[in-house]
Amino acid sequence: MTTSRDLAALLSDAAGAAFVSLGLEASLGAVRRSDRPDLADFQCNGAMAAAKKLGKNPRDIATAVVDALKTSPLVASSDVAGPGFINVKLSAEGLSKRAQEIAADDRAGAQRVETPRRVVMDFGGWNVAKEMHIGHLRSTVIGDSLQRLFRFMGDSVTSDVHLGDWGLQMGQLINEVKLEQPNLPYFDESFTGPYPEASPVTMDDLSRLYPLASGKSKSDEDRRNEDRQATQELQSGRPGYRALWRHFCSVTRVGLERECKSLGVTFDLWKGESDAEPFIPQIVDDLKSRGISEFDAGAWIVRVARESDKKEMPPIILVNRDGAIGYHGSDLGTIVDRKQSIDPQLSLYIVDQRQALHFEQVFRASDRAGYLPEKELEHLGFGTVNGPDGKPFKTREGGILKLHEFIAQADAVATARMKEAELGSDVSEAEQADIAHKVAVAAIKFSDLSNVRTTNYIFDLDRFISFEGKTGPYLLFNAVRIKSLARRAEAEGVKPGAIGIELDAERALVLQLDAFSDALRSAYDKRMPHILCDHAYLLAQAFSGFYTAAPILVESDPVKKASRFALALATLKQLEIVLALIGIDIPERM
Ligand code: ARG
Repeated sequence: MTTSRDLAALLSDAAGAAFVSLGLEASLGAVRRSDRPDLADFQCNGAMAAAKKLGKNPRDIATAVVDALKTSPLVASSDVAGPGFINVKLSAEGLSKRAQEIAADDRAGAQRVETPRRVVMDFGGWNVAKEMHIGHLRSTVIGDSLQRLFRFMGDSVTSDVHLGDWGLQMGQLINEVKLEQPNLPYFDESFTGPYPEASPVTMDDLSRLYPLASGKSKSDEDRRNEDRQATQELQSGRPGYRALWRHFCSVTRVGLERECKSLGVTFDLWKGESDAEPFIPQIVDDLKSRGISEFDAGAWIVRVARESDKKEMPPIILVNRDGAIGYHGSDLGTIVDRKQSIDPQLSLYIVDQRQALHFEQVFRASDRAGYLPEKELEHLGFGTVNGPDGKPFKTREGGILKLHEFIAQADAVATARMKEAELGSDVSEAEQADIAHKVAVAAIKFSDLSNVRTTNYIFDLDRFISFEGKTGPYLLFNAVRIKSLARRAEAEGVKPGAIGIELDAERALVLQLDAFSDALRSAYDKRMPHILCDHAYLLAQAFSGFYTAAPILVESDPVKKASRFALALATLKQLEIVLALIGIDIPERM
C-alpha cells in the first residue's frame, strides 16, 4: 500500500529504529492502536519478543525504546506498563500535523494499493424469469460495495451480473409457455421467421409461470424429461426456442435495470451463464485430449477430489447426459471466457454461502485444467437475511418478497419517519420523496453491510430506518448536518485555517480520522464491508463529541474557529468517501 502514512506507521518507524539500535529487527517496533484508549493512544508489544531473543528483561528493553520514542516530535509521553508493554500518547503537534495532512488530501488520508490488479467481481446473479427478490439483495449490495472499495484502492475492476439464464429452468419455462400458448410460432419447427418482436409474455407472466413449471418438473418425471429435452434443444440452437428465450431475457432485464437504478448499483457487464456456451466445446476437447475430463455414465466430468479431503468432493459435470450444460459447466466456461477477455489476477464471487461446495469444485477444476489458478479465485459467501421470526425473509403471506415491493415499503417507512422527525418539511414534495428514498436505501444497505458478511441477520425495517443508533439514516443525517454547518459557516465568511489540536474531543476526532487508512486496508484485505460501516459510525460519533465540545460558529477566537472549521470539513470529506464506498448517497439537506 502507498500512503499518506498514518500515525501507527510513523510511530512504528520510530519504535523500529529504536529496536534496530539495540541490534534487533525493526519489525518488533510494530505499533498499533491502544487496547486501553483511556491510558494511551498507541501501544507496541515488541519488547516481550525481543527479550526472549536476547535473554534480557523485557522492561529494560521497553525502557530503552521508550527513551528513544520520547525524542520524536510526534510523542507527548511514553511509558512502560506491566511486563513490558510500551504505551504512547501523541503530541498535540503530531496530531495537528496529521489532521492538516488529511484535510489537504483529496482522499482524506486513504492509501492506494502499490500494485493494482485486474479484478473480476461476479455478483447480483439474478435469474431470468424470476423477479429479483431479497435473497439476491445481499449479493448485490455487498458486491457493489466491494467494487467501489477495490476501485478506490486503485484496482481495475470489471463487474459482471452473471445472470442465471441457461439451465433447466429455461427448458421448464419454454414448455410452460407452450402449454398456455401452443400456437405461437416459436414452437412450430417449420416456421422460418422472422419471429415477432413483441414478447408473448410479461414479467408478471414469467413470475407466475416459473413456480408452476418448476413444481410440475419436480413432481412429474415425464414432464422433467421433456424439460431436459427442451433445455438441450435451446442450448444447441433451435431457432424458435432461442427467439422465445431472448424475450424471457429482455423482459427480465427491464425489471432488473429498474432495481439497479433504484439501488444505485451498476455493472460493467451484463453477461449470463449462456455466454459460456461457445467455450464449452473447446473446453471439452481440450480436457478430453489431456485426460482431464472423462466420460462417465453418459456425462463429461472432471474429478476434483484430493487425497487430503475430509469431506466428499464430487466431480464437476461439464456436459450432462442429455448433452446440456449445467451450473458447473457454465461456471467453468465463464472462467475461460474471462481469462481470454480480461485475464483477471483475482476473481471474486459474491454468492450465498450455501454454494460454497459448488465453487470449491469449479475452482479446483479450473486449477486442474490450468485455466485460472485456484488461489486467484475466491468465493465470498454470505449468510441469509431472516425475518423477525428468524426464518428466511418472507412476505406476511409467506411468499417471496419482490425487491421492488420491498424498496417501496422502505420508502414509505422512511417518509413516515421523516415526518415524525420533522425533517425535510421545508422542501418540495419531489425533493422530499428523493430524500426519503435516499434514507431508505441508506437503511437497507447499511443494515446489510454492517453485519459481518458471513453471518445471517434479521432484517427489521422499523429498527433500521431510524435516525438514532448505528443505522444508515443516522450517518446520513450526520453528513447532512456537517454539510449544512459548512454552508452556514461559509455564508458567515468563515474560512478553514491551520489546525491546532487542543481539546480531548479534538484529539479523539483526529485519531478517528487517522484510523481510516487502516480500516480501508482491512476491509480490502478481508473483503469485509462491515469494517467500513464501523469506521463511518465511529467517525460520526467522534464528530458529534467534537462538535459538542468545540462549537464552531459561536467561537469568538478566529484562529480556533478556522481550525475547527477545517477539521469539520476534513471529517465531511472522509465521511462522504466512506459512505460512497458503502453505496450511500447523501442528499444536500434534509
Ligand atoms: N444465479 C445463481 C443463483 O441464483 C447465482 C450465480 C452466482 N454466480 C456464479 N458465477 N455462479 O443461485
